[in-house]
Amino acid sequence: MATLSIDDLDLRGRRVLCRVDFNVPLDSDDGATTVADDTRIRAALPTIRKIIADGGKAILMSHLGRPKGEPDPTLSLRPVADYLDDLLDGPVHFCEDTVGDRARTMVHNLPEGGVLLLENTRFNPGEKANDDAFARQLAELADVYVNDAFGTAHRAHASTEGVTHHVPRAAMGYLVAKEIEVLSKVLDAPDAPFVTVLGGAKVSDKIGVIENLIGTVDHILVGGAMSYTFMKALGQQTGSSRVEEDKLDQAKSLYEQAEGTLQLPVDHVVATAFSADAPHRVTQGEIPEGEMGLDIGPATVEAYREKLLGAKTIVWNGPMGVFEMEPFAKGTFAIAETLAEATDAGALTIVGGGDSVAAITQAGYAETVSHVSTGGGAMLTFLEGETLPGIAALSQK
Ligand code: 3PG
Repeated sequence: MATLSIDDLDLRGRRVLCRVDFNVPLDSDDGATTVADDTRIRAALPTIRKIIADGGKAILMSHLGRPKGEPDPTLSLRPVADYLDDLLDGPVHFCEDTVGDRARTMVHNLPEGGVLLLENTRFNPGEKANDDAFARQLAELADVYVNDAFGTAHRAHASTEGVTHHVPRAAMGYLVAKEIEVLSKVLDAPDAPFVTVLGGAKVSDKIGVIENLIGTVDHILVGGAMSYTFMKALGQQTGSSRVEEDKLDQAKSLYEQAEGTLQLPVDHVVATAFSADAPHRVTQGEIPEGEMGLDIGPATVEAYREKLLGAKTIVWNGPMGVFEMEPFAKGTFAIAETLAEATDAGALTIVGGGDSVAAITQAGYAETVSHVSTGGGAMLTFLEGETLPGIAALSQK
């Protein structure tokens, strides 16, 4: 059995309720709110264009941020509707409600090939609660349902899961199909050597992924603050570095389970305070009292480069340091550059997670690597080998 695809649907004249992930960063300078990063919006365009081209009515819905189940004007999707309007070069209508009379009327009046974006689904408490009544209200707006929100597929919410039980057919869009195809390749049949680079603040976010990849992965290269938790778990000094004290036992057992595949930084950029202006230097091995690790050092970069340039499959999630601060950005940008080189040399390279995606984009290599995932949590959940509720709920062919 295979999941129903948008290509299997007859869209002409149909109300196509399409869940997208327009949870994008916004900039609110000078009183005007604009989209700061449009990666997720552009990634949904092939599916939206397909609905338009086939003469369907594209009724788009998404969450934005984490409102408390009630309207929050700072998290309105209106600026995203305006942005999409520019991208599509055609009218994108915006409904100030997500469900109810006004939404029904606007859907009814939408012409074939028209596009309507509904207001933030999380303005309703029924969204996160996966409330059946709210899911039915959403389904009332649809003849068919398409999920193209890979980034939210790990959430069993009304607009990603509940709604599928009340529509005749629920299919996946092109973005979801592409993400699943690429990430399945990594899980099921990665070409060796398979190397994963994991960074970011918390080891707790990556435990499931490491557990699931042990056995297929050749090298797990660790950076970011999560490496200090591993170091402390192994009895090393970490100074005043950020450490998850309650994860030390788990980190130790994970390191042992990995049987030499998990590699930690051999040197660090350390500073006396968490500040771009703080005095900083490179130190080998352990981190002395009074200093904190904020990036991987040059010897670690070299060691990781060597592993990455020999790889056939690479997955990167999480920065190597505090790359937002210039003195601690070198490690992360070196990994970004190395992934681009590895791609040119024929490796399948996948980058996911908001910070790593921001880094690869800033470095100018987002178009070079094989795949930039729109999923942070969703990508990690998939790599943990867990079911994504938003995908599992879709119809089978
Ligand atoms: C994301 O940004 O990872 C997705 O849009 C999901 O958002 P959430 O973590 O608020 O559910």
